[in-house]
Amino acid sequence: MTKFVDPGPDVAALWRERDAAHVAGCYSRYSDLVVERAQGAHLHTVDGRDVLDFGCGIGVTNLGHGHPAVVEAVHAQVDRLLHTSVTTHSLPMIEAAEAIAAVAPEGLESVFLCNSGAEAVEAAIKLARKATRRSDVIAFLGGFHGRTYGALSLTASKAKYHAGMGPLLPGIHHVPYPRPGGGEAAVAAVERLLASTVDPGDVAAVVVEPILGEGGYVVPPAGFLPGLRRLCDRHGILLVADEVQTGFARTGRFFAVEHTDTRPDIMCLAKGLGNGMPVAAMVATARLNAAWHPGDHGTTYGGNPVACAAAVAVIRTIRDERLVERSARLGDAILERARSWPALNPRLSDVRGLGLMIGLEFTSDGGAPDPGTVAGVRAAALEAGLLLLSCGGDDSVVRVIPPLTIPETELDQGLDILEASLAACA
Ligand SMILES: Cc1ncc(COP(=O)(O)O)c(C=O)c1O
Repeated sequence: MTKFVDPGPDVAALWRERDAAHVAGCYSRYSDLVVERAQGAHLHTVDGRDVLDFGCGIGVTNLGHGHPAVVEAVHAQVDRLLHTSVTTHSLPMIEAAEAIAAVAPEGLESVFLCNSGAEAVEAAIKLARKATRRSDVIAFLGGFHGRTYGALSLTASKAKYHAGMGPLLPGIHHVPYPRPGGGEAAVAAVERLLASTVDPGDVAAVVVEPILGEGGYVVPPAGFLPGLRRLCDRHGILLVADEVQTGFARTGRFFAVEHTDTRPDIMCLAKGLGNGMPVAAMVATARLNAAWHPGDHGTTYGGNPVACAAAVAVIRTIRDERLVERSARLGDAILERARSWPALNPRLSDVRGLGLMIGLEFTSDGGAPDPGTVAGVRAAALEAGLLLLSCGGDDSVVRVIPPLTIPETELDQGLDILEASLAACA
């Protein structure tokens, strides 16, 4: 006779119930995992699951969870000083600004430290307006720049983000982001906008993601960013690169603008900068920095000593562990392995990316976006122990964004699960 074993309460379900009772309902979660700790590429849940994390907290934990250099820097700083804000100077804030300026493209040397990507974008809009004394901003359809009002007004990756939230910031113009082969056409579309709709003399900035992130992991043609740079120079418009998702070695370069040697006037950074600590930055040229004066902008928590200590450790670790090179190498290996994937699942219509920022796009037989297959692949992968995120306006793209530090055996394990999931959903 088999003995009855009481499975006990479903601990994860109990936590989810508590979540539903008091955590705001606006969060859209990628999984119902309830995680209590994480290490490297592994998430450990309250109900004992060990899940490989190919989502990195939405492109944040580039060094893996609990990287010893970051954890050590955070612990040491917690014992020294948690907070003073602008009531004093603090050492980690100065060190973080120096470290960011040291790795930023040449000429970007003035660092405004803040807490989130959206705040970095807000700072960029404000500085661009202040420095140019112009009001308007051009952004791209498919772009994602955050949820606060300025950033949200630039965001155009899903209409849902705007629904019921208006009115948004005036003076924002959207043009199409280029698809492969369409770099010059996309720059020409901006020129047409400037000829037909908004006078260039009213445009403060063009804000662009060097690779489209939330909008579907689209790598623009090589001529796109240099073409935008030339257009901006012709019209005295500032070029703002939103590297919130692409920065810090994710794409196989320290910053994605380096793939085309494009030098923006302003860069927005967050996510990978803190490897999980909330820290972000808006980096500008010294000339632009001269446009604002003490009190023009600020934040209570921006430049927090603990978050800045993490940022310094992250930048040092990327260099020490040669993670830029590793991201490029592993990314190439995945793209090579992916050549066989369309045979596993004919709805996989495109595999693209740079470094370890890779997107798998799915389309139906008629060529329409196929969020159903994406949902199926993600569910099958999760069941087998791999967390994958989606993106794209229609959620028709699976993203592959493992930690840059992932051991190759674990990367292979994850890719084995992905391949099995592709086949299972064919
Ligand atoms: C390119 C880009 N910019 C800005 C943001 C907003 O960052 P945050 O969510 O930290 O405000 C994101 C977030 O996904 C992003 O991907």
